Amino acid sequence: MSVTAKTPPQTFHVKSFGCQMNVYDGERMAELMAAEGLVGTADADAADLVVLNTCHIREKATEKVYSDIGRLRKRARERGADAPMIAVAGCVAQAEGEEIVRRAKVDVVVGPQSYHNLPELVARAASGEAALDTNMPLASKFAHLPARRRVGASAFLTVQEGCDKFCTYCVVPYTRGAEVSRPYAAILDEARALVDAGAREITLLGQNVNAWSDDDGRGLHDLIVALDRLPGLARIRYTTSHPNDMAQGLIEAHRDVASLMPFLHLPVQAGSDRVLRAMNRAHTVDGYLRLLDRVRAVRPDIALSGDFIVGFPGETEAEFAETLRLVDRVGYAQAFSFKYSPRPGTPAADLAAAVPAEVMDERLQRLQAALNRDQAAFNAASVGRRCTLLIERRGKLPGQWLGKSPWLQSVHLVGDHAIGDLVEVTLAAAGPNSLTGAVAVRDAA
Ligand code: SAH
Ligand code: SF4
Ligand code: F3S
Repeated sequence: MSVTAKTPPQTFHVKSFGCQMNVYDGERMAELMAAEGLVGTADADAADLVVLNTCHIREKATEKVYSDIGRLRKRARERGADAPMIAVAGCVAQAEGEEIVRRAKVDVVVGPQSYHNLPELVARAASGEAALDTNMPLASKFAHLPARRRVGASAFLTVQEGCDKFCTYCVVPYTRGAEVSRPYAAILDEARALVDAGAREITLLGQNVNAWSDDDGRGLHDLIVALDRLPGLARIRYTTSHPNDMAQGLIEAHRDVASLMPFLHLPVQAGSDRVLRAMNRAHTVDGYLRLLDRVRAVRPDIALSGDFIVGFPGETEAEFAETLRLVDRVGYAQAFSFKYSPRPGTPAADLAAAVPAEVMDERLQRLQAALNRDQAAFNAASVGRRCTLLIERRGKLPGQWLGKSPWLQSVHLVGDHAIGDLVEVTLAAAGPNSLTGAVAVRDAA
């Protein structure tokens, strides 16, 4: 760790990689630094302090940290400026803290459960002291964070963190720790603050968000019902869910709670029971399909999304074909798919029978072709539907706005609107990744 004192930073920039929870954490770290009087910059090169909020999920994500650090320092050298103070936060910090300090000599390392200490760590680094904190304290970081500032029309709110599922390929149980649910009252307080700060939609976040529970026996659906009553909040979403935590109450909330959007991200990873067992997913393909049937029974228009891994060790061509068959049966509105990446310290990393890289490439291409086909079909089938759009930002063209449909589709709309508006539209033209909306005309009486 550096031993020379540095000038304390006055400006900062936070760059988040990885999942939505990292986006949320990045916002909270920015609020922390702003509360300390530092000024945020839109450009990383203009900041005295750069916080890299990292993701460890696949090897590529992890390597990005090191290339980013190199790039930041090189650009500072080229400008003849001092290198910025660099703080590595997030899941790589948790997993490889000491190694980052050794390999990249960064100033601060802070894990996902201790980032409330960021200001103190920055001060320590400025005075030339070691500044590494990857503790997972029992007391929650949330109690030490400042109030929410202005947010966009759609905001994230972490309600549950960590994972006890231990899928054999996954680092999250190690980087985020054990499953913890935030208290009901604290969540409702933060939701109110987000609405006051401009949010019309809140997405509840958790690594297993549908495992949220409290000591009074409440489950995620109780939280959703309470949020539905919050004045000013028009839409509720939640992500990511695990098939085994999908309670009947939550399924029924998709029928009973008007502000709960008809969208469910429910990762399945693979379409073969043998592969699911090897992944320790603790559910079968059939169990997953029956669950989706129950959800569709109460909410027939629900848009489904998923995550897939191709090339898990030992995956045969026939097993991969079962994944394609599952995709055909479900008809996802959108989905994410990845090549398996062995992660140090996970059980699957020790498995022999690695699938060759070119086979993984080819399987990913076939899977993505099927998923793209289904996404395009879902969008095409939406044309003519009437729905509400939440306007989230300006589009690229003058007078154009970008909003989200209830089914999480990106929709372009032209007209006199503003961020946060809820506009009744008819979905017109559909492309593979977005649609066009037209303001709905009231039926002539
Ligand atoms: N909490 C989320 C998962 C977060 S990781 C959940 O359980 O749904 C997001 C996705 O990354 C996972 O669903 C999985 O599809 C993928 N993933 C996780 N570990 C991976 C690995 N080692 N290689 C490739 N993809 C992986
Ligand atoms: Fe990772 Fe599995 Fe936990 Fe999701 S459920 S975070 S994939 S271990
Ligand atoms: Fe990545 Fe950590 Fe999220 S590993 S996906 S940033 S929980």
